[in-house]
Amino acid sequence: MWLKFIVMLPYFRTNIAAMAGYVPGEQPRDDGTIKLNTNENPYPPSPSVLAALRKATNRSLRLYPEPLGDSLRSVAAAVYGVKPENIIAGNGSDELLSILTRCFVGPNDRVAFSTPTYSLYDTLIAIQQGERVTIDYPPDYSLPEALAAQNAALTFLCNPNSPSGTLVSLKEIEKLARSVSGVLVVDEAYVDFAESEGASSLPLIRAYPNLVVLRSFSKAFSLAGMRIGLGFASEEIIFGMMKVKDSYNLDRLSTVAATAALQDMPWMARNVRRIQRSRKSLTAGLKKMGYHVYPSQANFVMAQKRGRSLKEVYEALKQKQILVRYFDIPRLQDCLRITVGTPQEIKSLLQEMRSIDGKPAA
Ligand SMILES: Cc1ncc(COP(=O)(O)O)c(C=O)c1O
Repeated sequence: MWLKFIVMLPYFRTNIAAMAGYVPGEQPRDDGTIKLNTNENPYPPSPSVLAALRKATNRSLRLYPEPLGDSLRSVAAAVYGVKPENIIAGNGSDELLSILTRCFVGPNDRVAFSTPTYSLYDTLIAIQQGERVTIDYPPDYSLPEALAAQNAALTFLCNPNSPSGTLVSLKEIEKLARSVSGVLVVDEAYVDFAESEGASSLPLIRAYPNLVVLRSFSKAFSLAGMRIGLGFASEEIIFGMMKVKDSYNLDRLSTVAATAALQDMPWMARNVRRIQRSRKSLTAGLKKMGYHVYPSQANFVMAQKRGRSLKEVYEALKQKQILVRYFDIPRLQDCLRITVGTPQEIKSLLQEMRSIDGKPAA
C-alpha cells in the first residue's frame, strides 16, 4: 500500500511530497460518541435555517450559485456594519485562510505567528513554500511583542487562540496591525464566545487597510457541516482575494443557510450564553480535579496537569466513547483541549475523568 504512494512521489512538487498534510480531528461515524474534540456547537442550527434549506432544496440546484455570494454579503454587511465590498464569503474560514496564503505568500516569503496555535497555518505555508517564522507564546499565552517585528509578508493571530482559548485585547491587536510590515490576519473562528462584546477586531478594518478578520459559521452558528466563513477587510484586499478564490466557492445551500443564520441572531446568542455557562461549570469541575485550566473565551477549554502526559487520559476517555483533543507535541503533552458540550455531556466527561484518576464522584 505505502509503496504505491512512494512510487508516485517524484511527480509531486518537492515541498508537497515532503509535507505531512493537515490532520483534522477525528470524525466518528457512530452517534453514540460524546464528541468534544473539534469544537462543534452541541446545539442545532436555528429552525429558520433548516426551513430555508428545505425550501431551497429544489430544482434550482441545477443552476450555479451566485459567484460572489452577493445576497449573503449584503445581509452580512448590514449585520456587521460594513459595506458588502468589505466582505468575502468562503467555503469555511479554512478556504479563506488558503486564499490569503495564496494571495500573499510566495516561495521564501515570511509568515509569522505565535505557537502553539491552529496547525493549518503550517500546512498552508508549506504548500506555498513560504518561510514559517514562529514565536512561542509565553506560559500565560499573552501576545509576544516580538511577533510584530518579524518582517513578515503575512502574520496570523488566532483570537481567541486554539488550543489555549485565551484572548488578546483589541488594544494589542491595533498595535500589532500598526507595527507589522505586511498583512495581519485575525482568525476569529471563536470570538462569538467571548464574554466581552468588544472582543472582535472587526471595527479596526476601517483604520487598518492591511488587516483581515475571519469569522466562521461552524462554531457559534452550529453550521460546521455547511462550510461557511466570512472574511472582512478593506475593499482593496477583498478585491484581490476575489481573484484567487474558486469561481463558485460557496454552493447554493451554504449561501441560503448562512443568510438565514444571520437573520436569526437571537438563536445564536442564546446558544452562546448556554455554552458560556457550561464553560464555567466545566472549568470549575476540572479545577476541582486538580487541573490547571487556561482562562477561555472560546467554546473549549485547555486543561493541564503540569509535567504529566495526558495521553493516557485521552485514550482512556476514548475507550469510553468520549473524544477530546490531544496534541502530541512537546508543549501540549500535558494538556487536553475539551469542547464545551451540553451540561449532560460535561457531567459524563467529568465522571469518567474522575474514575480514570481513581477518585470517587464528587
Ligand atoms: C482557529 C480556527 N480557525 C479556523 C477554523 C476553520 O473553521 P471553518 O470550519 O470555518 O473552516 C477552525 C476550525 O476548527 C479553527 O479552529
